[in-house]
Amino acid sequence: MSRKTAVVTGASRGIGLAIARRLLAAGWQVFGLSRSEGPVEEIPWIPCDVSVPESVNQALESACMQAGRLDLLVCNAGMGISGAVEFTSEEDAELQIDVNLMGAVRCARKAASVMRKQGFGKIIFISSLAAIFPLPFQSLYSASKAGMNVFSDALGIELRPFGVQTCTVMLNDVRTDFTDSRKKTETGDGIYGGAIRASVEKMERSERNGMTPERAAEEVYRLAEKKKLPAHRIVGASNQLLGLLYRILPTDLMLSVIRGIYG
Ligand SMILES: NC(=O)c1ccc[n+]([C@@H]2O[C@H](COP(=O)([O-])OP(=O)(O)OC[C@H]3O[C@@H](n4cnc5c(N)ncnc54)[C@H](OP(=O)(O)O)[C@@H]3O)[C@@H](O)[C@H]2O)c1
Repeated sequence: MSRKTAVVTGASRGIGLAIARRLLAAGWQVFGLSRSEGPVEEIPWIPCDVSVPESVNQALESACMQAGRLDLLVCNAGMGISGAVEFTSEEDAELQIDVNLMGAVRCARKAASVMRKQGFGKIIFISSLAAIFPLPFQSLYSASKAGMNVFSDALGIELRPFGVQTCTVMLNDVRTDFTDSRKKTETGDGIYGGAIRASVEKMERSERNGMTPERAAEEVYRLAEKKKLPAHRIVGASNQLLGLLYRILPTDLMLSVIRGIYG
């Protein structure tokens, strides 16, 4: 029988690369999709820009044709913008939603038709705690990840009769190039009393002290090997505690706590 096959988007560096390496180490066949080639020769790279529908379709078709099966899609490709909403350009706002949310939608749509026909498969979405703890000055990033959570849940219901499962993995701070790659605008910082810069700097300090991408990848690997996927998974004990607080705290109280930290 052929090897289990995974497609990981955004596998050229960071969390996606760690996930691809972990799956590879466990004997999976892995295809990495990204715009630039990753550093690991054993991971076949398929050029793909998730913001271009044709690029996504071609890349997934190529992976499925080569492997003859698709057991796992990890929708990980993503980027971040920051700044006050009123000073965020139309282009940046669209880019954030297009790459993080629509990019995942495009990949999942293509994978869904393959997995439905073969009668099995898993789609794991790399989301963020920002999906449930909305971050000021990263509103569009938070919205992209909240959209991803809901999309995964709804898609999971659609595909369940066909043996296909979905899951969102909500990460908190992970030490990757994501922090330095963030597209930032501090326009209006004076008007907002310095809150834009202070908030994003605080978030960046947390990210630089966050968990390793390998820790996040280990959790994704465990899910990949599980028979039944949970709808949501939060990685890390302290983050799971935050997830519990999210479920029990009244929304207004939760938002005032976030305001105190990042507002
Ligand atoms: N780091 C954190 O603290 C953290 C926390 C929570 C969630 N996350 C999520 O984890 C995921 C991975 O982030 P990371 O920390 O590993 O960031 P990263 O190191 O910056 O890696 C981002 C990956 O996404 C790919 N990518 C970006 N835009 C793309 C596009 N248009 N088409 C195809 N690939 C694209 C990049 O490859 P190319 O540039 O070569 O295309 C790269 O491989 C993201 O979805 C992020 O939101 C990260």
